[in-house]
Amino acid sequence: MSNDQTHLPFIKEPKSKRIKPEKKDSGFISSVWTFEGNGGSQLYRYYGTLPRQLIERIFTLYAKNANTRVFDPFLGLGTTLDVAADFGIEGQGFDVNPLACLASETRLYTSRDLPFLQAADALERDFKKRGMNAANNISEILMSDKYAYARKWFREENLYSILGLLICISGIKDLSTQRLFFVIASQLVREVANVDTRCTHHLVTKRKDFIPAICLFEQKLATAINTLRNKPADSNRISVMQGSAIDLLPQDKADLIIIHPPYLGVIHYHLIHRLATDLLDVVKSAHAPISLSKYDFSYARIKEGDVSTDSSKPYNKFIQNIAASCSKATAANGRCVVIIGDQRNKGHLRHPFTDFIAAFEQHGFLLEEIFVWLLENNGGMHILRRGHFIDHNYILVLHKVAEAC
Ligand SMILES: C[S@@+](CC[C@H](N)C(=O)[O-])C[C@H]1O[C@@H](n2cnc3c(N)ncnc32)[C@H](O)[C@@H]1O
Repeated sequence: MSNDQTHLPFIKEPKSKRIKPEKKDSGFISSVWTFEGNGGSQLYRYYGTLPRQLIERIFTLYAKNANTRVFDPFLGLGTTLDVAADFGIEGQGFDVNPLACLASETRLYTSRDLPFLQAADALERDFKKRGMNAANNISEILMSDKYAYARKWFREENLYSILGLLICISGIKDLSTQRLFFVIASQLVREVANVDTRCTHHLVTKRKDFIPAICLFEQKLATAINTLRNKPADSNRISVMQGSAIDLLPQDKADLIIIHPPYLGVIHYHLIHRLATDLLDVVKSAHAPISLSKYDFSYARIKEGDVSTDSSKPYNKFIQNIAASCSKATAANGRCVVIIGDQRNKGHLRHPFTDFIAAFEQHGFLLEEIFVWLLENNGGMHILRRGHFIDHNYILVLHKVAEAC
């Protein structure tokens, strides 16, 4: 018998029946997802920010028509809504932390064409004229017990320098400019305070020299402007609100809910941004600037709603509550996508993702897909184990099946 393949009977399927291999670079053939870089932003270092490509992929798979409504109740720096605006999708975002809301609004609605550099020049002149005095004038508010925590992390001149800057920003008339400048100044708070800016808590202290906040502000402005959208999002279709996910969600129905809650005790959001939220609270009490008016900066309120905690017990209760809220808020046949990672506890894995699956299944969802998102080059989040970087982040796609509604 000849080995010549040309003499074999024709066994190939006709072309039309063959399954087309997907393009190698599409990323959809694998259930393991990786993305270039992380979602860190030059606008405001929020921590835990998702890469835009991750949300883009979720939308491409699950938000197929323009009528889709999306909710992100753990908004952070607003990645979901930023992508929703590009996809022409209607979206609502909530976060318990006012700084997340303020920074998200800035990311979404600020036109990069505004004359920011002229406004910065005027700000500098105003700061030189009255910055430190203006800060001195409100020292009575600053001295109240409520702000004792914030005060202790600053060298006095640095505290008055950053506070003076915030007060001068309060005097800016244009809402977008004022909001952007507050966000930039909030980022500077940790740079002038006696904390290590890379640390996710305020545990590391380093006594810093006098740092004039206005000089840092000008450097930061140029990079921040580059992060702004070419076309601001439409505030009638994309909205941001401060509040707890558990209380806000049931009011409406969405086709797609994306939740990316804090991972059990990894980053304490209420604490990491506290120095800035406390100082914004001081300025709000003294000068009532327009861009801060709708937000509540009181630490007690922020902490109360924040589910980033190190005790697993309330976190499990939170998982149950959020599954119940998402169930009420998801339209029939809609989906809830949960993005959640593992943590280590004394060398062993904790895997809250299994609790999320169980809780959502109890509330009318079926698990449709699990994707694993591997973080590469994401300084800080990796855990080095036996020579390997191991980092599990799960993307759980939970389908609210029609008959369970
Ligand atoms: C991991 S971050 C979300 C990051 C976001 N996906 C992004 O790309 O920027 C989690 C967020 O949940 C917020 N948060 C914590 N508890 C909350 C609650 N009960 N309701 C709403 N937001 C909450 C935190 O303030 C934090 O901004």
